[in-house]
Amino acid sequence: MAEPSTFLLRSQPRARWMRFDTAQLLKRFFFCERTVLVSAAAWIPSIASLDGKIGIARCIWQSAETAHALRERVFELRFPSRLLEEEGTDAALIDLFTAARNSPSVPAFLLCNAVVLLPALRDAYQQYLDSSDSIADGPTHRFLSLAFSEKHEQVALFTKWAEDTLAGSPGDRKEAEAWTRAIASRLAAIGGVGVGPSSAGECSPIVGAKPYSIPDHPARDERFWPCRFYWPDIVDRDFPYGEGLSLQIRSAISHVNEVWAIEAGGVMLSAFADVLPWEWIHDAARWTYDESRHCRMGYERLMSWGFDLAEIPLGTYIYESASGQDPIYRLGMLYFFETKNIRHKLTRAQLFHSYGDSLSEHDMDFDWADETIHATYGNRWLRALHELNAEKYPPADKVREKCELLVTRMIASASPAEKSALIARASSMIQRANELARA
Ligand SMILES: [Fe+2]
Ligand SMILES: [Fe+2]
Repeated sequence: MAEPSTFLLRSQPRARWMRFDTAQLLKRFFFCERTVLVSAAAWIPSIASLDGKIGIARCIWQSAETAHALRERVFELRFPSRLLEEEGTDAALIDLFTAARNSPSVPAFLLCNAVVLLPALRDAYQQYLDSSDSIADGPTHRFLSLAFSEKHEQVALFTKWAEDTLAGSPGDRKEAEAWTRAIASRLAAIGGVGVGPSSAGECSPIVGAKPYSIPDHPARDERFWPCRFYWPDIVDRDFPYGEGLSLQIRSAISHVNEVWAIEAGGVMLSAFADVLPWEWIHDAARWTYDESRHCRMGYERLMSWGFDLAEIPLGTYIYESASGQDPIYRLGMLYFFETKNIRHKLTRAQLFHSYGDSLSEHDMDFDWADETIHATYGNRWLRALHELNAEKYPPADKVREKCELLVTRMIASASPAEKSALIARASSMIQRANELARA
């Protein structure tokens, strides 16, 4: 018979995890989110579907917000701060999450996220919310509940994108499924994400892995009109930017063609993820997401006016201008070519107001607010890179010069056939716009 206690002792589920255990788990989640988002950012240029590119940019931003909140919370819990810079006992788990970046194909990358990595995080959040103390750890409960619901949504989206991609390339299914099974069994072998103790695992490469490299050419959604330069004024100074109805179209075309900016954002985020501090990833994720919203603004306007996707030019030239260069020129392109039009945006918003086109006015106005944030990001991180390694990373003005040179060279490569096809496409779009306006 047990000795009667002299203390007040009851079973206390609230006390299951002490402060240190809690911080340990949140730190694990931070690294998982960070790794998932860095890989997804790197894959954006390879994803053809415009919905997929836009959607992944949003998922990246959600993950970055969750990771940021996790990181802040770990600091609040006063986990030894230096340890937040490394994975520690979760190294095997984070290595496995990192391996997804070396997926053998787009469908394999999407499928292993849809079936293994994102569900593992979603389930770990559920377990954490069920098992932790909502009184002592209330601040975590608030943001992790949101992260849990976002993970649900992300699993559904990645599943859809994976299936859509596989429908277009059924030959890739066997490889994608074998890759996903390999990731799943490795994850099971190290005990999953979960809320249990960390476990060690093997670091050998996963069979079927293909080392990731930044694609020179971005994949494009085949439903659109494919081109390098998306409007004649880019390659022909005599073609007017336009006003009135032409300006409405030109502005929407510019917006949807910010698809290059989503890709540049994703590439630069991942390229400097291990070079710059966490705040870089946090800023770059927001930047990439913002560009995806600008792209979608243009897409939605063109759809609301009644255009068909096949009429809409979707170009590649700014992305391709930076191919083969150091990723700092992706950051340079995004910074200089996106912010150089800030001064026109408010004027154009006013013009759209005078036409009674409230949607173009609204989109331009919100875009302007985002661009002013991006100008700060560009300044901050170009300077940070230069300060980090002045030999490797030139100062901002040199980066700008080279970006301009690269784009000028690309524009000079436009062939007469390319120019005339573009003029024909733009002219017929403007003509269609006239018909649509009258209708
Ligand atoms: Fe933008
Ligand atoms: Fe921007």
